[in-house]
Amino acid sequence: MIANLEVCDTPETVAHRAADIIEATTRAKPDASLLIATGNTPMLTYAELARRDLDMSRVCAVQLDDYLGIDDEDPRSLYGWLQRSFVEPLGVTRVLRFDPLAPDPQLACEQYAQAVRKLGGIDLAVLGLGPNGHLGFNEPPSNASAPTRSVTLSEASLRSNASYWRGKDVPKSALTAGMDVILAARVRLLLVTGAHKRDILRRVLSEPVTPEVPASYLREGSLTVVADREAAC
Ligand code: GLP
Repeated sequence: MIANLEVCDTPETVAHRAADIIEATTRAKPDASLLIATGNTPMLTYAELARRDLDMSRVCAVQLDDYLGIDDEDPRSLYGWLQRSFVEPLGVTRVLRFDPLAPDPQLACEQYAQAVRKLGGIDLAVLGLGPNGHLGFNEPPSNASAPTRSVTLSEASLRSNASYWRGKDVPKSALTAGMDVILAARVRLLLVTGAHKRDILRRVLSEPVTPEVPASYLREGSLTVVADREAAC
């Protein structure tokens, strides 16, 4: 399967194109389940969506990942970031989230996976690309059947996530939607911007599919990549 790669001039035009795809999905299915990444890349997309006259009140925002042991009031909470960037500006009322304080993280992950199944799976996954090829926090090596689980973050992820929380430590472990959940999404949208993602995007799209680059598994189904010139050329 060849990924559909759309190259846009700038991160802003990436955001417009991505917002078009999300808007089309939610107009066709107002109660769509959307797997929603945080991270820097999709922020312009969510801001663009918020400028549009859309009724997102019936969609279900499904959290892609969160740090373990971080409460909602902590500025590093990825749930908090999801709320500020997507849920509140878009008037979303349904959220399927992780419980980062669960005494039994494994059980919390099983409950999350079961709730996703009950939703009927994911209609659209909005994904960013980790600098080491991770999706959510599916760190290399992760194969296509890696389940929703708690993980120890790699050095590469600790480094890249440090830029989000200047002056604060990055939590060392996290909960992530499994590769199985992500890859079963009916539409997979990967957003990639910036020259620092050029090499990993090339590996995702052009090198053999491998657990060492978890995002490469996206090529085994239908995939739309929207990238800016800096990342794609
Ligand atoms: C982070 C997150 C991912 C995110 C990715 C890319 O570590 N776990 O959910 O999509 O890495 O982040 P960014 O968009 O900031 O480059």
